[in-house]
Amino acid sequence: MKKMIICLGSLALLLAGGCAGFRVQDQEKAYSLDFDPTDYEMKTVAFNGKTLEFRAYENIVYVARPVDVEYERMNIYIPSGYFKNATINGYTPDSAPIFLPNTVGGYMPGPPLTIGGPDRPGDHGPDMSSASLTALSKGLVVAAPGARGRTNVDKKGRFTGKAPACIVDLKAAVRYLRRNDKRMPGNAEKIISNGTSAGGALSALLGATGNSPDYAPYLADLGAAQERDDIFAASCYCPITNLDNADMAYEWLFNKVPHYKKMELKGMTDWHMERKEVQGNLTSDEIEVSGRLAALFPAYLNGLNLTDENGTPLVLDQNGEGTFKAYVKAKVIASAQAALNQETDLSELSWIKIKNRLVTDIDFDQYLSYITRMKTPPAFDGLDLSTGENELFGAESIKARHFTLFGLENSTAGNQMAEARVVKTMNPLNYIGASDADTAKHWRIRQGTADRDTSLAVPVILATTLVNQGFDVDFFLPWAVPHSGDYDLAELFAWIENLH
Ligand code: DHB
Repeated sequence: MKKMIICLGSLALLLAGGCAGFRVQDQEKAYSLDFDPTDYEMKTVAFNGKTLEFRAYENIVYVARPVDVEYERMNIYIPSGYFKNATINGYTPDSAPIFLPNTVGGYMPGPPLTIGGPDRPGDHGPDMSSASLTALSKGLVVAAPGARGRTNVDKKGRFTGKAPACIVDLKAAVRYLRRNDKRMPGNAEKIISNGTSAGGALSALLGATGNSPDYAPYLADLGAAQERDDIFAASCYCPITNLDNADMAYEWLFNKVPHYKKMELKGMTDWHMERKEVQGNLTSDEIEVSGRLAALFPAYLNGLNLTDENGTPLVLDQNGEGTFKAYVKAKVIASAQAALNQETDLSELSWIKIKNRLVTDIDFDQYLSYITRMKTPPAFDGLDLSTGENELFGAESIKARHFTLFGLENSTAGNQMAEARVVKTMNPLNYIGASDADTAKHWRIRQGTADRDTSLAVPVILATTLVNQGFDVDFFLPWAVPHSGDYDLAELFAWIENLH
């Protein structure tokens, strides 16, 4: 995609001896939570054959007392027409929804997305500013907050971004937007968050946990605006979520797949570092661990009391077979059918049965062998504390901890476990429909059928829980799409335009 940025007025700013939007980094200082409508740069960007003109309000620190001022800041982009009272795509300055993308990957720190800034190819799909440029072209306001992550450290070497810092930061950004709703175009009652993978999980958390008191002490410490932090809608691409149950879910799905292909992430501090593919077969110890984890999944799943669209209970027997498995499989079949309807050639895939242009069955075990397993068991709570998620659940002076009982009891690396209340704050399922949380009305959840970063059971459980609790959910597994996001922007924004 060709983009061209022209910074109008940058000369004038140079002459004025400064750069609009830049604020002094002074950790001692209390930052103002009042949006300054005069502190912007005009930008024009050529995008999809159109010229977008917008005001760029960049580097707004969104809490009064940031812990990491590099990340607790936000870039806000507003179509310039809204300052001339224009109507764009049917939206007015007061009604325009606010698109809220996060750039978090791997639960590492996510800087605020900068339109016209460096592209981030290879993260999770297309250049991450494409979604925001599309949003602007459709008349949405873009508010792009940064968030701390598991690798942040302060000058004293203390970890400052361990759970729940990433979700607390995004909630603080939402509060800033509500506080300033009258001072800027865009409707803070129409915030739509977007993220991929760990960022998709954060989008789900923003959607699920609105106004929950569990986050209040953290928000108070940061000096976040005293406002509501519920949002209107959540778009979640391949959310790496439900972490405390994801190991069982992974082995339930991949128990019979001993071969793995994964990207080596060890030692990564930055999401853009090169990753190396590693292949292998599970050891006998790992196969044993897989079996024990898989055996735990049915009791967890049955305890959720989920039902399908007809009210039929979604359950599993001790062997992991049952209506829930059939339901997951049906979603994969629906995905193959949609691909076939769009003339995708599936004839090479002998495990898909097709009759008269209808996908009549899929051999589920062969499908799983085909996509292969990516992670060795346990996929998330590593027994040696080596995963990114172990690091997410570290503490100020602890790099990594366990966050499941299984991980703790089978640990080869000590016996430290994250506090239950911290683990709770990172799982949206604890909040959906809870009496003390305001869950977003609308949800869009996508996970490709070639995605092995987490079990298909994870998005299915999330989507089904939401549907069962009466929320509006658009859920689909796009055919053959790997772990990625923002690949279907036309459909994403069609969904957004139809939300009421
Ligand atoms: C991401 C991917 C993972 O496999 C994981 O465990 C956590 C995060 C990501 O792409 O953000």
